[in-house]
Amino acid sequence: METIFSGIQPSGIPTIGNYIGAMKQFVDLQNQYDCYFCIVDEHAITVPQDPIKLRQQIRGLAALYLAVGLDPKKATIFIQSEVSAHAEAAWIIQCNTTIGELERMTQFKDKSQKNGRTGVSAGLLTYPPLMVGDIILYNANLVPVGDDQKQHLELTRDFVERFNKRYGQKNQELLVMPEVKIAEQGGRVMSLQDPTSKMSKSDTNAKGFISMLDEPNVIRKKIKSAVTDSTGIIEYDPENKPGISNLLSIFSAVTGRPVAELVSAYEGKGYGDFKSDLAEAVVDLLEPIQIRYNELLASDELDEILDEGADKARLVANKTLQRMKNAIGL
Ligand code: ADP
Ligand code: NA
Repeated sequence: METIFSGIQPSGIPTIGNYIGAMKQFVDLQNQYDCYFCIVDEHAITVPQDPIKLRQQIRGLAALYLAVGLDPKKATIFIQSEVSAHAEAAWIIQCNTTIGELERMTQFKDKSQKNGRTGVSAGLLTYPPLMVGDIILYNANLVPVGDDQKQHLELTRDFVERFNKRYGQKNQELLVMPEVKIAEQGGRVMSLQDPTSKMSKSDTNAKGFISMLDEPNVIRKKIKSAVTDSTGIIEYDPENKPGISNLLSIFSAVTGRPVAELVSAYEGKGYGDFKSDLAEAVVDLLEPIQIRYNELLASDELDEILDEGADKARLVANKTLQRMKNAIGL
């Protein structure tokens, strides 16, 4: 059976972008693959976090994983910082990655240009090797992620090729070469306020994203005030009509109805009708998830699942780490 790894940062409450681009794929894939779904808390601390909030967000994200339908019998669900092999592997990977490669990564380029080199942590430069480690420790063949993670996967593939070449023995696969898997619909959900930039849970403008825990009336308000254009024609044209195209793609991902079908269903109708139907579709999707989320947060079940998940993850991760250490002479 092929293996899957993916993770989400507990750096805020997940958005419908995280759901459509990542979590929804996780649920679909758990039946066919050996799956590892991680709460990547060590990635979240590359930028300052409030400790109390961070702890809540870690547990909250775990509850959301389960609330959307991940099943601990089918997938290993765990917290990254509970498996120390991640930090150890990251060090070995950093020592086999150049500063040039890391400085080219867009996250670092953007944030260090904005805040200056003394305004960002060293972790913001070196977190991509941590992510490489997340993936390779579980021998992942496939990594289901949103479109924004392509560059990280390329770095991972470059690293695996280099490491295997440098340290591998003939006829023996030292590290498994992973492939990226991007959702067919909604691999890049855009901000509701600026449809030219990605929807993100760390956006300072809360009107730009729908959080998975937003209440129905908040969802309705945010979708109503989503930026569109003045033509009033519902068509899919991301370049010239990014706002309505983004809403169409969210509608399609949330309901499973193809974009073309939605376009013909709303022919001649206005943005108002379209937006209120979309809002109801999002509310219908999130309401049962939120109910289950609240039940899970109040139960002990969650902590047991996370303990068991970390135990299972550790077994696999430690084996790969040992293989890496042996190969490089440690
Ligand atoms: P964020 O950028 O919201 O903080 P993360 O970095 O934690 O999200 O990403 C978690 C997963 O969600 C990744 O697979 C990422 O590609 C996916 N993802 C994040 N934002 C979006 C989006 N706007 N559209 C589609 N997928 C997304
Ligand atoms: Na599985």
